[in-house]
Amino acid sequence: MSIEQLAETAQAMVAPGKGIIAIDESTGTIAKRFASVGIENTEENRRAYRELLLTTPKLNEHISGAILYDETIRQSTKDGVPFAKYMSDHGMIPGIKVDKGAHPLAGCPGELVTEGLDGLRERLQEYYKLGARFAKWRAVINIGESIPSGTCIESNAHALARYAALCQECGLVPMVEPEVIMDGEHDIETCYEVTEATLRSLFDALYQQNVLLEGTILKASMVISGKGCDEQADVEEVAESTVMCLKSTVPAILPGVVFLSGGQSDEQSTAHLNAMNQMGNLPWPLSFSYGRAMQQAALKLWGKDMKGNYAAAQKTVYERAKENGQAALGKWNG
Ligand code: 13P
Repeated sequence: MSIEQLAETAQAMVAPGKGIIAIDESTGTIAKRFASVGIENTEENRRAYRELLLTTPKLNEHISGAILYDETIRQSTKDGVPFAKYMSDHGMIPGIKVDKGAHPLAGCPGELVTEGLDGLRERLQEYYKLGARFAKWRAVINIGESIPSGTCIESNAHALARYAALCQECGLVPMVEPEVIMDGEHDIETCYEVTEATLRSLFDALYQQNVLLEGTILKASMVISGKGCDEQADVEEVAESTVMCLKSTVPAILPGVVFLSGGQSDEQSTAHLNAMNQMGNLPWPLSFSYGRAMQQAALKLWGKDMKGNYAAAQKTVYERAKENGQAALGKWNG
């Protein structure tokens, strides 16, 4: 795989006005989402729900690709078209979550390290054959009393860089995701410091592992107040802090940055992205790779009436894609 092909895929992922829909919840996570709206967590319900999302009419107007889960990339529409083929046929790039989740980091109480490097080369080779052209790995950085530690930040950066190098060897664009978690009482300044340290460590590790940034996408968390913080930073402050933090840590050669929603409301996630893009003069496209902020309205409707609300649920997916697509251009007007 040439770097030109990786770069081309990466650029297509962040094409103007387009972003990614994350539908890569593990079976355990989707169980929680389904339970919240009273849906039984069966394989057929998971398949049907992912079909609803992926076959939303005109989704490709604002969505460049979707992140799938291992089970999902092996599933098909009810008419028997594999999801990855359905996506390529409709101009959307199939992506795949390849990490094996965040596990307690030995010696560092309260902290996590993401696992999944063993056997990753073979898994990536298989995912490529199944149609995936990018892969996601999520690291989790918690903020709390004397955490995160340097050990946690560096261990996660090292794993992210090793996965990214393997992805590029196998022809997939790595979407590197170091998520600084919103839970906690910390203020936005603390989030800024932790995000800055995390990104510095990540780009250092990517350099050490010979990862080509031209063929890499960063999936970042926004610089934002902890959910339990008494003082909540407003939209302008979140946008300015996030852009400043990214500008001081992320090389300009990167094809793009996409954000996770991380528990923000639909409106917040769109307003923040829009405000950042309205600032203008950015070295890279800033877009979205939202999971919950793309799906939660649809899931609620579908949970109430799977058949009767099918079209209405798809309509909300389209609306969320459209609004976030506008925000990726700084053209959302609330
Ligand atoms: P949220 O937007 O729900 O945070 O999910 C995005 C994602 O892929 C997290 O890994």
